[in-house]
Amino acid sequence: MRSLAHTVTLALLRVGLVHSLSAQTPQMGWNSWNTFKTNFDQSTLQTTADLLASTGLKDAGYTYLIMDEGWQDLERDSSGRQQPNLTKLPDGVPGIAKYVHGKGLKLGIYSDAGIYDCGFYPGSYGNEELDAATYASWGVDYLKDDNCGGFYANTESPYTRFAVMRDALKTSGREIFCSLCQWGHQFPWYWADLVGQSYRMSGDITSIYSDTGKDCPVTGCSVLTIIRKMRELSRFQKKGAWADMDMLEIGNGNMTLRQQQTHFSFWAALKSPLIIGADVSKLAADSLSVLKNEEMIAVNQDSEGEAMHYLPELSVEKQSQVWAGALSRGRTVVLVLNEGNVTSAIEVELAKIPGLNAWKLYQVRDVWGVKSVRNIKGVVNVTVEVDETKVLVFS
Ligand SMILES: *[C@@H]1O[C@H](CO)[C@@H](O)[C@H](O)[C@H]1NC(C)=O
Ligand SMILES: *[C@@H]1O[C@H](CO)[C@@H](O)[C@H](O)[C@H]1NC(C)=O
Ligand SMILES: *[C@@H]1O[C@H](CO)[C@@H](O)[C@H](O)[C@H]1NC(C)=O
Ligand SMILES: *[C@@H]1O[C@H](CO)[C@@H](O)[C@H](O)[C@H]1NC(C)=O
Repeated sequence: MRSLAHTVTLALLRVGLVHSLSAQTPQMGWNSWNTFKTNFDQSTLQTTADLLASTGLKDAGYTYLIMDEGWQDLERDSSGRQQPNLTKLPDGVPGIAKYVHGKGLKLGIYSDAGIYDCGFYPGSYGNEELDAATYASWGVDYLKDDNCGGFYANTESPYTRFAVMRDALKTSGREIFCSLCQWGHQFPWYWADLVGQSYRMSGDITSIYSDTGKDCPVTGCSVLTIIRKMRELSRFQKKGAWADMDMLEIGNGNMTLRQQQTHFSFWAALKSPLIIGADVSKLAADSLSVLKNEEMIAVNQDSEGEAMHYLPELSVEKQSQVWAGALSRGRTVVLVLNEGNVTSAIEVELAKIPGLNAWKLYQVRDVWGVKSVRNIKGVVNVTVEVDETKVLVFS
């Protein structure tokens, strides 16, 4: 039985805890993992910082530059502190922080809730206060807290482990954003708001578009597989504790432009954090323009912080998906995805969309089509190409 004490503790935590960082909109940035795995160094990070600024990505909102696993040495130093691999990062983490801050960006780092992380570098278990204080002293602004060691040790719930780091970050003397990574195990949508500002809801993404139909408990999730899982999870999305659909694969692998737009549309309208996972120095112009689409980013960063929801009554399994959600100023965003194998004219009955009325006249903005139509009423007939998502904003 789930003990009364446990329930009471959770209730008290819910009342008493206010995160120091508000995270009112999903975080945006870049992370080294999807492209570089552990093979990055100071020059990779500096080049990326330069490019985030010069390509306009920073101004579009991508402000966190996050070093994932691989920044560390295999051993802690003589005072027990985690230390960087000085071959990769000769100026240490403070050197990178200074560079990144100099570009108007913020620095993210990676650790783990176990004794070791996934690649057997030292995790933070038992050293949370020391590690949080170390990150603060280095000028770190963001922590991605993984759970490899915790998962395999399986001695305590991830909630218990992450709570220790939450407390350590709070007393570290610096505002450090906390992004949790435990692949959606143990139903984080019920508790992650108490211990972090975002949490992963699935296994790791891969740069494959199609719905594999398979569960992906730790790795290998395609774009459509993650979208499918969000059908049930969008209702848990909330301000300050964002369900994280994982880092973007836009610009990686061989997704078509339409597939990349679909990927971005769903991450944005489901209020996932938007963390670029590509090598920015090799981003194709069309991928860059997807990532910089101002209207899509505005949907993601909308002040309501409300995720859209799947509408089964308007969707046809494996053929079309219709989703909708509320935006600020009384607007409604509708996504229509063609999951079939031929171009389709998909009729969307407005009366069946929460927030819209059959009798009202709307102005409809087609975000990717970059056009607006006035006086729309009753039913919209949307022509959607294979793998395409039409994003329509009703006002
Ligand atoms: C440190 O970085 C160098 C250069 O990339 C690499 O060869 C070495 O394996 C790294 N050490 C550890 C412990 O990861
Ligand atoms: C795209 O990549 C996937 C996964 O690596 C591969 O199975 C597929 O054949 C590739 N498609 C093309 C057109 O290159
Ligand atoms: C297209 O989809 C239909 C309906 O799901 C299916 O019957 C048909 O075999 C598919 N055609 C191709 C070429 O994949
Ligand atoms: C929607 O468009 C298709 C294809 O152009 C057409 O066959 C259908 O009648 C249209 N439906 C409505 C309600 O206009």
